[in-house]
Amino acid sequence: MQKKYRVLLLGSGGREHAIAHSILQSPYLADLKVYPGNAGFNKDQLLPQGSLDWNNKEEFQTACKGNYDLVVVGPEDPLVAGVADWMEELGIPCFGPSAYCAQLEGSKDFAKKLMLDAGVPTSQYRTFTDYDSSLAYCKEKTLPLVIKADGLAAGKGVTVCLESVQIEQSLKEIFLEKKFGSSGNQVVIEDFLEGEEASIFAICDGKDYVLLPAAQDHKRAYDNDEGPNTGGMGAYCPAPIASDLVIAKVRTKIIEPMLEELIKKGKPYKGVLYAGLMIDSKADPYVVEFNCRFGDPETQAVLQLIESDVLELFYNVSTHNLINNPPIKISSKHSSIVVLAAKGYPGEYVKSILIDSIKPKEKDTMIFHAGTKFADDGNIVSSGGRVLGIVSLGDSLKDSIDKTYSFINSFKTDSLFYRKDIGRRAL
Ligand code: GLY
Repeated sequence: MQKKYRVLLLGSGGREHAIAHSILQSPYLADLKVYPGNAGFNKDQLLPQGSLDWNNKEEFQTACKGNYDLVVVGPEDPLVAGVADWMEELGIPCFGPSAYCAQLEGSKDFAKKLMLDAGVPTSQYRTFTDYDSSLAYCKEKTLPLVIKADGLAAGKGVTVCLESVQIEQSLKEIFLEKKFGSSGNQVVIEDFLEGEEASIFAICDGKDYVLLPAAQDHKRAYDNDEGPNTGGMGAYCPAPIASDLVIAKVRTKIIEPMLEELIKKGKPYKGVLYAGLMIDSKADPYVVEFNCRFGDPETQAVLQLIESDVLELFYNVSTHNLINNPPIKISSKHSSIVVLAAKGYPGEYVKSILIDSIKPKEKDTMIFHAGTKFADDGNIVSSGGRVLGIVSLGDSLKDSIDKTYSFINSFKTDSLFYRKDIGRRAL
């Protein structure tokens, strides 16, 4: 890399704050702008609210043209809308896949068909477009079943049905009540997979890829995997469930066949291919879902283990030049993230919690903001369900997790709650 890069980062979660934290360490950074961002960023890094619309191609291109040398996309929505294609038209490298490839997350049916074409291990499924035939199919099947709204549903469109009443409820919400709008025009009904979950991120440049260390997310709201599903309450990395044997299978049975299938279709994949996996008792990985971006909260932990220049990596990936990237260096440390969420999340949650004095005391502990904003009086207050991510690096998983919890225990969290068992399974 010769010059310095003006970077636009899209997104507003803990994932984006963690991405920014890594990018800001690069000597190649000229300037970082973020949209919409959160109160973890400096005010001068935040673009004014309403100044970008990633659903409007013309406006978005006009806002970017001549202003940025690299666009890094955090969440899935801009990618599904086509931001990476629009940047390609302008000749601006973009870290994120095309709208075609983003359908891997944007349509569960698309993803399943592609997995079938590529011979990638996943659960059996059928796709339906109406209530009656989907219900009839479910009645023929053995429980549990997984019902997924086909399109994007902000992580809320999936129900694991253990009882038949849940099937009727879920199908009713999707087809009759239109809870997810057009994202529920189709449902994918899958057989339930048993095992332990892991999240693996493949960084792909259209030809080559590197795998980042595996992480494990904790999706349920409360300890012992109880309570409702959330966007993720914590994670740790590396996850021992992803042994060398499992990783080798992930490469040859999942990532490589998928990337080859997309190349065969003339649609090479660039950006992060996130494989959400179920690993069974024989160490065989099955794909639960693909996402077209980094996972959150896993990324907050995973990025801390990358010792290489992340901006350089993102730029080289975005210019299809991973081959010339210095070999990616991964730390031998362990990292963990615990999410502090507003009481009530993922349901109706407490709003505008004052986040004033929460500051890390150790160099290995970081705070990433998610649902926070600057209030009119200048204070930082919560503006979402997942509020902060507390991340620590340690020499062992236990060391990392102990540091994270010891930091959390050092301040009052009256209006916030968190899981107290992140990483316990691995320990
Ligand atoms: N950690 C789950 C997700 O990012 O979708």
